[in-house]
Amino acid sequence: MGNSSESNERSNHLSQGSPPGASGLDAVSVISRKRDGGELSDAQIDWVIDGFTRATVADEQMSALAMAILLRGMTRRETARWTAAMIASGSRMDFTDLPHPTVDKHSTGGVGDKITLPLAPLVAACGAAVPQLSGRGLGHTGGTLDKLESIRGWQADVTVPRMREILADPAIGAVICAAGADLAPADKRLYALRDVTGTVESIPLIASSIMSKKIAEGTAALVLDVKVGSGAFMKTLDGARELATAMVELGRDAGVHTVALLTAMDTPLGRTAGNAMEVAESVEVLAGGGPADVVELTLTLAREMVAQAGLHVDPAEVLADGRAMDQWRAMIQAQGGDPDAPLPVARHTEVVRAESSGVLTRLEAMGVGIAAWRLGAGRARQGEKVQAGAGIEMHAKPGDTVVAGQPLLTLHTDTPEAFEGALAALADAITVETTSEWKPGELILGRIS
Ligand code: URA
Repeated sequence: MGNSSESNERSNHLSQGSPPGASGLDAVSVISRKRDGGELSDAQIDWVIDGFTRATVADEQMSALAMAILLRGMTRRETARWTAAMIASGSRMDFTDLPHPTVDKHSTGGVGDKITLPLAPLVAACGAAVPQLSGRGLGHTGGTLDKLESIRGWQADVTVPRMREILADPAIGAVICAAGADLAPADKRLYALRDVTGTVESIPLIASSIMSKKIAEGTAALVLDVKVGSGAFMKTLDGARELATAMVELGRDAGVHTVALLTAMDTPLGRTAGNAMEVAESVEVLAGGGPADVVELTLTLAREMVAQAGLHVDPAEVLADGRAMDQWRAMIQAQGGDPDAPLPVARHTEVVRAESSGVLTRLEAMGVGIAAWRLGAGRARQGEKVQAGAGIEMHAKPGDTVVAGQPLLTLHTDTPEAFEGALAALADAITVETTSEWKPGELILGRIS
């Protein structure tokens, strides 16, 4: 009898997914509470994130909870506690003893978004320390580490003591590196689950995912670049404003000075989308040239970062007089890279020409991003290799007058069989019209502080 009631109890627990711990909490009651529109308690949030990190809460239970959160949302209190629990799943870095103020930037991701590359050394040259833990590209948006890895010798992995040395050296002052396995490990696992369960597009989950990593990274100040438009996570200004507000509140609650800019992502930034090509374009910006939109966004974000760090320096002067370029070279060398090495070039090219004459009124970020990805600049699965030379060069941008037959884009790849898929992605991404009505949209769409 005793045995049978024990086995009933066990099967009851199994049907509940995971047995209640000493706290009396169990996964199904947490999921059901959120499913029914309730608010999770601090204890429930701490328990479920801790259990997920230690694999006592199963992936399918966390997926169900993520879906319930996507459908029901979370209050500000729940989101803050969720973020704190994700930070507590790993270790938190601390740079408060550095001689310079720390400040970082995070972009929610876009096509041709190479801004971190000129921005980090520029802000370091203004006197701040920039600890930037970055990611790799997945899908149509590129990753900063993939771009920098096209520089010969450059290493994404930096130990924490070395990070500290680099940040303390005023001639370098910026480090862009991969996050260690111990930085918000619950987020790493949850993000991978969300990716395959249709639960990425939840504002509280995106906000807590991004902010848990940025807060754990130990920066004192943070500037967020929240992208809006067809090539971004957030397609509407209202959605982007909501996400930005949630992240700014999380930053502030955690004692990180945080401000967000809302910036346009309907068309790619600059004239290149692809790893090595974006490095080359960033170096042009550091040399005082480069596309106007990349320069404008770099300087706008730099001004915000410098102000958040409490410094009184004009980044435009630091860019113009070559100090930012010196800092870039030092930053690349500090991570084993050769800033003078030639960048890789893809073996095959294909030119896309204008089909008619007129004004290029549309060059869709999403189409260009997917095409660059299919050419080999991005990866479909974590861990795949990317091609350093693959990508797209844009010879015209919206607003430019073009004549029939003129090159609009050059596609680059080492795998010419990729051209067909890339051209298919671009088929509906380009519009040329005979109009004199076209007006450029604003790049900076709003600011949340
Ligand atoms: N980037 C992240 O780090 N997390 C998200 O949820 C979305 C974008």
